[in-house]
Amino acid sequence: MPVWMVRDPLFGDGGKAKVVDFLGEDERVAAVVRWQGGDNAGHTMVVKGEKIAVHAIPSGVVRGHRSVMGRGMVINLPRVFAEIDRLRKRSIQITPDILMISEGAKLTLPYHMALEKARETSADRMGTTAKAISQTYGMHRFYQGVLAGDVSDLDYVRERIRMPLSCANAILENVFRKPTVKEDEVMAEVETYRDVLLPYLGNEIPLLNELLDQDKVVLAEGAQSGMLDVDLGIYPNTTASNTWPGSLQAGCGIDPRRISRDIAVVKAYITRVGQGHLVGEMPREIGNRVRERGQEFGTTTGRPRRIGYADDPIGYYCTMIAPPTELAITKVDVLTGIRPLQICTSYTIDGRPVPIFPTTVTELNACQGVFEEMPGWSEDVTGVTNWDDLPGNTQRYLERVAKPYGCPLTMVGTGPGREQLIVRQ
Ligand code: IMP
Repeated sequence: MPVWMVRDPLFGDGGKAKVVDFLGEDERVAAVVRWQGGDNAGHTMVVKGEKIAVHAIPSGVVRGHRSVMGRGMVINLPRVFAEIDRLRKRSIQITPDILMISEGAKLTLPYHMALEKARETSADRMGTTAKAISQTYGMHRFYQGVLAGDVSDLDYVRERIRMPLSCANAILENVFRKPTVKEDEVMAEVETYRDVLLPYLGNEIPLLNELLDQDKVVLAEGAQSGMLDVDLGIYPNTTASNTWPGSLQAGCGIDPRRISRDIAVVKAYITRVGQGHLVGEMPREIGNRVRERGQEFGTTTGRPRRIGYADDPIGYYCTMIAPPTELAITKVDVLTGIRPLQICTSYTIDGRPVPIFPTTVTELNACQGVFEEMPGWSEDVTGVTNWDDLPGNTQRYLERVAKPYGCPLTMVGTGPGREQLIVRQ
């Protein structure tokens, strides 16, 4: 009855899709589920030299697995169906037999989008992916959400949107001085997608739990990341969902105690998009080299990512919250020739050690990094598939980066391609 979870404990973009894609080869895998976030994610795979990016749809569709979008997700209907069309054009089959959208998932509607756009173009912008993720989750917490399953009754939807729409319009008009959204516009969108959505809707809880009861494997594909969790990340520079293994329960009704493999995927260095201090940020010139070589630009927004050295305090904090059973380190090929390499080993404020990763932005902003130097390597490691073929310095660097996670390093990504992966037993 095992769940295999693949998640990024750091800041996202670690290369989870590549690991999900690899694990998806295993014949025991019966389904792939996403349980949080929305199309703010960008999961890229390179299959036979071609890049395939998914945003809201689980990566499992690429291998034709039963794929589930859990109730913890937020669903923007025009964008989800545009993504389905894009994938179909790449010959990826998506039918209601392959994809289930939970009837309990929360809909992102035009007034959420209008509010997000207004905030993200104001002086108070948060640097989000502009997908109205926080607006959708926020109103849901306010009991003003609309569930995907609600679309079967349009009169009910019209009733449900009345209050959130008037709240949104009051804010649009009085706070942001922006045009308001009309009820008919919202209903027109719901009506447009209603018939195409209905066949995909279902209750994921019995589906997934029955598969687990039959001893099949369910792959749980995390989105965003631990340090972007709305409660455990660096608030307010977070996303709006919970992202850690425990959130699986609320997100799709699977007991997290069914997780048998919990694979944390981290890059060989750190990247961060959006706002917020990165204590171990690389000097600009080195960061630029890594960014260009690693193509560190947001899959969803195209924004350049900020680049930092591997960071022990973040690693230890993440391991305290949820110790993974396995670690995958990706993109080690990108660091070839960066010599020496640094590891951020601890933080200080005014020379005093900071014992645990800070909770508040104020404290974090005051932190300075303490660094340990490692020699780096010059050999090209792209496409290496055997651990023993890595240079000694690369092996030592990887084991050092893995140290705070306290679990075996089982996979190393040596390039974007499906086959550019070292798997250690
Ligand atoms: P939102 O999730 O679009 O509201 O964005 C909130 C913050 O999370 C911003 O800093 C985004 O850049 C970041 N973020 C959201 N999704 C991802 C992701 O999949 N990878 C990396 N960062 C993300």
